[in-house]
Amino acid sequence: MTNLPADVLSRLWAHNQAHVLAGWDKLASSQRANLVAQLSAINFAELDQLIAKAKQVTQPAKSQQIEPLPVTPAVVTPHETQLGEDALRRGEVAALIVAGGQGSRLGFEKPKGMYPVGPVSGASLFQIHAEKLLALSRRYGKPIPFLVMTSPATDAETREYFLANNFFGLNEADVIFFQQGTMPAVCARTGRLLLEEPGNLALSPNGHGGTITALAERGVLTELQKRGVKHVYYFQVDNPLLKMCDAGFVGKHIATRSEASSKVVFKTKPEEKVGVFALLDGKCGMIEYSDLPQELATAREANGELRFRAGNPAIHLFAVDFLTRITSSGGLAFHIARKAVTHFDPETQAVVKPGTEPNALKFERFIFDALPLAERWLAVETSRAEEFSPLKNATGADSPETVRADQIALFSRWLEAAGVPTQEQPVEISPLFALDPEELKRQIPPKFAIGGPTYLK
Ligand code: UTP
Repeated sequence: MTNLPADVLSRLWAHNQAHVLAGWDKLASSQRANLVAQLSAINFAELDQLIAKAKQVTQPAKSQQIEPLPVTPAVVTPHETQLGEDALRRGEVAALIVAGGQGSRLGFEKPKGMYPVGPVSGASLFQIHAEKLLALSRRYGKPIPFLVMTSPATDAETREYFLANNFFGLNEADVIFFQQGTMPAVCARTGRLLLEEPGNLALSPNGHGGTITALAERGVLTELQKRGVKHVYYFQVDNPLLKMCDAGFVGKHIATRSEASSKVVFKTKPEEKVGVFALLDGKCGMIEYSDLPQELATAREANGELRFRAGNPAIHLFAVDFLTRITSSGGLAFHIARKAVTHFDPETQAVVKPGTEPNALKFERFIFDALPLAERWLAVETSRAEEFSPLKNATGADSPETVRADQIALFSRWLEAAGVPTQEQPVEISPLFALDPEELKRQIPPKFAIGGPTYLK
């Protein structure tokens, strides 16, 4: 039987959390071991501070200067392309996919990266991203380390999936899995830890901003430094249109010695649910769509364009030195969210269902909080139709239907530009066949014709 280590017990008492031990005698050995491991991983001092912060009466927000962010036009100079290609040839770029989210809106029972999103092939998001990296590493003659961030919810299945698919042709040593941290949910009234079930705390991934701390804690930053990697291309699992580690973007980032560079897609309607970049007190920052005041969301320039239109597709390039600097100063701050959480009360041994009001506090870090910490930053205009179509929902906007249609539309444009009419058939191009329209033109066999659904691979 697992016993309770004395240091865990004393911390529970010191931080007023000993209620989690009610019913300890009823727990099986494995449940006890699980609970001890979960409790041992909690930074109670930090948790106390967050709970205290949540209880503070909200102060009037500090007045902040909010201005539109200057955005660099998409056009890439030959010099920038050269800089980017040279960095890729020297192996100075790594790709980082964040795949630890719970994908609750999509409602898919596996990790979101396993979703079959290819419109003709049924290829998964993971396969599409991995094949882009394989094609790029062949093009530049150097592997691009693939950093795959998972969470307890997605880790085991993700690793098994890559293994079962032979890492999609990538060298196993170049695929580096690491898990993000978790944070416990606490009761919004009392600050006490909540349990999901007997012997199991209610834990959730600590947000995509947890990436930076996890990179350091899991030794990935050190590994990158050892490999001579200088820039990390950050992206989310859900966007199959992603232009992976494109040399133009990498080159602009290097040419400006930027610490954090971000792609920008322009909003066309005020109500679009995408965060916007802005200059916040003169620093590059992000305002979530739910936090953007209506008068700013609808403000227009003299030419009719939205004033705050620099939408965030969550594609960034970070300098490794910059990430190291953030981790050495303790990582990003936590945001506090009030949520409704069904939980198990160990004292009454009963399941508690929340009422209409949120009953719990959850804590998450957001990656875009890194942006204002950068001394030099860059925001680069990007075409939404070419590079951004996220899979978020089961139906409607940003659903499998729209994501497949957006891929077909993109590949149809590439084929038409290569002189191949698509006859309105669904078409898909494997990254291993062509990564861009120029490569497609070179690869497509003469007199190639489309007669039905087509997957070029
Ligand atoms: P979202 O915020 O869209 O979350 O994450 P999600 O998990 O995909 O979907 P919902 O909100 O539960 O429906 C954006 C990206 O950040 C990653 C996700 O995997 C996705 O790539 N993410 C999110 C993490 O890696 N960890 C987190 O804790 C949260």
